Amino acid sequence: MNTDGLAGRRVVVSAGPTFEDLDPVRFLGNRSSGKMGFAIAAAAAARGARTTLVAGPVALGTPEGVERVDVRSAAQMHSAVMAALPADIFIGAAAVADFTPATVAAEKIKKRPGEDGLVLQLVRTADILADVAGSEARPALVVGFAAETGDVEANARAKLEGKRLDLVCANRVGVEGSGFESDDNALLVLGHGLRVELGPASKTDLAVALLDIVAQRLPAR
Ligand code: PMT
Repeated sequence: MNTDGLAGRRVVVSAGPTFEDLDPVRFLGNRSSGKMGFAIAAAAAARGARTTLVAGPVALGTPEGVERVDVRSAAQMHSAVMAALPADIFIGAAAVADFTPATVAAEKIKKRPGEDGLVLQLVRTADILADVAGSEARPALVVGFAAETGDVEANARAKLEGKRLDLVCANRVGVEGSGFESDDNALLVLGHGLRVELGPASKTDLAVALLDIVAQRLPAR
């Protein structure tokens, strides 16, 4: 196990969901608890990395030694992640909304007599991971996650190539015992010339195993 490679390195991790506001009382969100990303940030800090955790709205305590930046929306997460660069490593474990309401209503959206439905207009959010990978301050290693319900490996490989990542960690969502909310997970880690299955195991143990791979692939200082 390589425990020294991360000491003193700058690591930025994103975790949790984003909430996209519709009006003052409603939002579009997802099931991410933040456990996976928080476990990675905790493991990185424990190995001596200078770690910034950009967290969506979650109910988790800040891991020891981690600098935490709380955000709510995908746009706020994008700004906070870009502001945290330069870094040696970026790990995007957050479940970032792909779409956000085109407008946020200033007042609570009311039911109108005679209307039996409501059409929401959504627009694409910026892709944080792709923007980090394409930035002038590109970290030496950019690691993404892929939350998939089917064709896990093919979809994850498409994200590895499409977003110009160094590693992608695919996990199955929508099943008991892995992905969202669970304390456990199973990861298929893909890279250029790399295919490793990790787990099933606790997210804490998976974070350590993932950082072993990251440390091995980090270019020398
Ligand atoms: O938080 P937990 O409850 O512990 O659950 C963990 C998890 C399932 C959320 C985590 O393991 C995980 O898979 N995170 C990524 C979830 C996701 O949004 O996957 P995706 O396949 O939709 O996105 C692919 C990658 O692009 C992800 O690294 C994501 O952070 C990133 N992305 C997506 C959209 C966007 N606008 N910006 C991004 O950076």
